[in-house]
Amino acid sequence: MFEWIKFIASVSVVLVTVGCGTDSEPQTFDAGIELAERWGIPRPAVVAHRGASGIAPESTVAAYEMGRDVGAHYLEADLQRTKDGEIIVFHDETLERTTNVEDVFPDRVDEPVQEFTLAELKELDHGSWFNEAYPERARESFDGLSVVTLQELIEVAENGANNPGLYLETKSVPNHPGIEEDIVGILEDAGWLPGPREIESDEDGSDPVHIIFQSFYDDSVASLRELVPDEIPVVLLSSDAADMKAAHERGLLVHHYTVNEVSDMQRLHEAGSDGIFTDWPHTALETYGIVAAGIDVDGHFEILGYRVLRVERSVRRKRVDTVTHWRQLFEMMKSDVAATIYILACSSIRTAGDLSFHGIGVPGAEN
Ligand code: G3P
Ligand code: CA
Repeated sequence: MFEWIKFIASVSVVLVTVGCGTDSEPQTFDAGIELAERWGIPRPAVVAHRGASGIAPESTVAAYEMGRDVGAHYLEADLQRTKDGEIIVFHDETLERTTNVEDVFPDRVDEPVQEFTLAELKELDHGSWFNEAYPERARESFDGLSVVTLQELIEVAENGANNPGLYLETKSVPNHPGIEEDIVGILEDAGWLPGPREIESDEDGSDPVHIIFQSFYDDSVASLRELVPDEIPVVLLSSDAADMKAAHERGLLVHHYTVNEVSDMQRLHEAGSDGIFTDWPHTALETYGIVAAGIDVDGHFEILGYRVLRVERSVRRKRVDTVTHWRQLFEMMKSDVAATIYILACSSIRTAGDLSFHGIGVPGAEN
């Protein structure tokens, strides 16, 4: 029988700040490699944090499909339960930051997510906030994206070529008593538990660990530990800086969150980190040489149907729903009335600078 393992994850910023950087002794590195091989966990593990949430709205199908298709080893998801007992992927306790709850349910803005039914949550737009917050990464097709259920996340992981695992967090646990049993039940019904899912083996014939549980809550970790087989890792998350050498000596792997800067990815890797949660999995995969540099993010988005890019001008906003003619677009750009401009089917054009390069000037636009 396998001895169960527990990981420690730590906030990367803290780790770097306290100087646990490139001074680590070589045996730390070797110990991590040996442990990861023993447990069949990729190293460095690249975990798509809330999906590829740097380039698509977090915790949506778009983010998870992109995390999968660029080759992340695991899709990370925060799990909560709706009023009618459905398990959904959602990070915050309330809906305000990442949905239009204020428009749809103006009297319920402060209500926690467990007070809403799945049908109510499906009424909400989980994507537009991203387009508003990150106009340079906006895509028209993000508008109106829906909440994702655990069942739908499983389907994303099972489709496509890369067979990512799932790195599942029980979130806001006091609001969801008994959520662990519900999650395990869904995974059992889907064939992901109790044993390793039937997936294509690595070249050496070993099955990679396909599912990892995580929580900040001791009680939830203990519950999951009781519910799932010993070979399924259950991680106690920590916001303390990890002593990687000490962790490895105790047989623990260290996965850091949330690491988005290339310099941090490199520094942690050199210091013996066993993997990272990142909003930018394609960047991490390239940085670690797991895939060749130059992942075609736009190409992946196009294949998935998230095709239309939007260029935002920010002086005064006037929403224009459809631009079907280049002359109309050109006139809009010449106008001193700022507009939200939709570029249809021109995925190589990402910024106003690109438009200028393509011969259509954008007066006053930042390049
Ligand atoms: O699960 C690792 C990391 O995601 C924990 O932080 O707040 O992003 O869920 P948070
Ligand atoms: Ca999380």
